[in-house]
Amino acid sequence: MQLNFMLCALFMINHCKLIELPKFNDARGNLSFIEGGQHIPFDIKRVYYLYDVPGGSDRGSHAHKNLHQFIVAMSGSFDVVLDDGKEKKRFHLNRSYSGLYVCPMMWRDLDNFSSGSVCVVLASAHYDADDYIRNYEEFLTLTTQKKI
Ligand code: TYD
Repeated sequence: MQLNFMLCALFMINHCKLIELPKFNDARGNLSFIEGGQHIPFDIKRVYYLYDVPGGSDRGSHAHKNLHQFIVAMSGSFDVVLDDGKEKKRFHLNRSYSGLYVCPMMWRDLDNFSSGSVCVVLASAHYDADDYIRNYEEFLTLTTQKKI
């Protein structure tokens, strides 16, 4: 566990970035694709998605100790607010050919969902409840520790 948090010292908000995906468009419509380890910096172990999100809802409000994620607005739009314990940054996602890479130890809040939006998340590991940090004070304690 200690080693994981030492490794997390590598993860700061400027490691999280918008990544544009390949896009093929022709008269039949557009096609984009994502290859783990190629377009995004991890292998994909899990895909989950948020849909039928009521307007005004907030999701997220947690960090992950080890998980890498890539978030795409497959339809509609929403915002992702990232926080590394020191700095916060808001990203507006509204394209299915680009997404946001989120490294471990990054607090995230998702809000401002448009109606009918679909949020697809690619993740580097299977679901593990123990990987979550759901308490913001605990997150701050850990991120402060890592920077000592
Ligand atoms: P949660 O992580 O709280 O959603 P959000 O990130 O939007 O706040 O997940 C909601 C529920 O879904 C929770 O009970 C755990 C479950 N879940 C899984 O079983 N597998 C998964 O891959 C995910 C992401 C969540």
